Amino acid sequence: MILITGGCGYLGSHCAINLLERNTEICIVDNFSNSSIEILDKIKSISKKHFKFYQGDVRDKKFINALFLKKNIDAVIHFAGLKSVSESEKDPSEYFSNNITGTINIIELMKLNKINHFIFSSSATVYGNQHPPPWDEKLKLKSPTNPYAKSKFIIEEILRSFVIDNKEFRAGILRYFNPIGAHPSGLLGEEIHSGRNLVPAILNSLIHSDEYLSVYGNDYPTPDGSGIRDYIHVSDLIDGHLKALNYIKTNRGCHVWNLGSGNGYSVLQIIQVFESILKRKINFKFEGRRKGDLPEYWALINKAEKELNWSPRKSINDMVYDILNHLNKTRPNLKILKN
Ligand SMILES: NC(=O)c1ccc[n+]([C@@H]2O[C@H](COP(=O)([O-])OP(=O)(O)OC[C@H]3O[C@@H](n4cnc5c(N)ncnc54)[C@H](O)[C@@H]3O)[C@@H](O)[C@H]2O)c1
Repeated sequence: MILITGGCGYLGSHCAINLLERNTEICIVDNFSNSSIEILDKIKSISKKHFKFYQGDVRDKKFINALFLKKNIDAVIHFAGLKSVSESEKDPSEYFSNNITGTINIIELMKLNKINHFIFSSSATVYGNQHPPPWDEKLKLKSPTNPYAKSKFIIEEILRSFVIDNKEFRAGILRYFNPIGAHPSGLLGEEIHSGRNLVPAILNSLIHSDEYLSVYGNDYPTPDGSGIRDYIHVSDLIDGHLKALNYIKTNRGCHVWNLGSGNGYSVLQIIQVFESILKRKINFKFEGRRKGDLPEYWALINKAEKELNWSPRKSINDMVYDILNHLNKTRPNLKILKN
């Protein structure tokens, strides 16, 4: 059985469905700090399968240990954690506690209970601003400055040390670039929150049609002057998790893979993809560059392609279509998609 921590969140819920559809036994732990109980019904209704759910916090050692004792768990896919760079700057200790203490608890209790397969959600933010793109796993990293990225960087270091002392323990570190997209049913997708990311900002501008979308920076040294990022469909990203889990079953140690599309798209290109599917213009205006934003980055994905026999299948159009389909289904009054 596989334990999915944070299994009610954006990525964890997609992972749960994927595993259930392959008839893999799973259980989910979530404290609902960034999700809700309704997600469980959606996972059930899409997968048409049963699974166990336990509400609780990964920092609660007693709770996690009881679960490990009770269930026959042989792998953990660890999504539970906080994910906003800007929030982490306001409350660093909450980010360190949730992300670092939560992960240490899980791996120590895994060791105690002889559970040896661990997949960790890291982030491209660990590359910081030290290297020009594309970023590959061999680049030497220095500790990043924002607390969110630092928490991921520290956990990666901890995992590398942990496997040296625990020869049977295997870890797969997945550095996500920008996961977007939604389940093709339209029932599940990322919650629209305020924050610095482009997709929620575009969706907010569609929901509040009187609002302009702000595009930060039109003078970057990129072909159209706007920032470039690497977007990956959530279903391709999750596929990478299952392949990574298979890999560590036959390969000891701590392994790291980038999960991105390997391509960069500019903010203006993404807006154009939205416009072509919506069949209308999006109102946007340029604003100055934001502190901390990089001009451009994308992944080198050869390592995951070669070692995991994985490659992303979904195009940028698929990603945007699925996002809009999810918005259409969850807010039908907006009549977002015209047939
Ligand atoms: N989505 C992204 O863009 C992105 C990019 C890079 C890395 N990541 C990492 O991937 C993981 C999953 O991201 P997501 O987008 O699904 O986030 P999410 O917030 O949608 O999901 C995380 C889930 O974990 C739960 N959770 C948080 N802290 C917990 C705790 N202490 N105990 C139990 N449950 C807890 C939340 O309630 C939520 O359901 C996170 O670790 C995040 O840092 C995400």
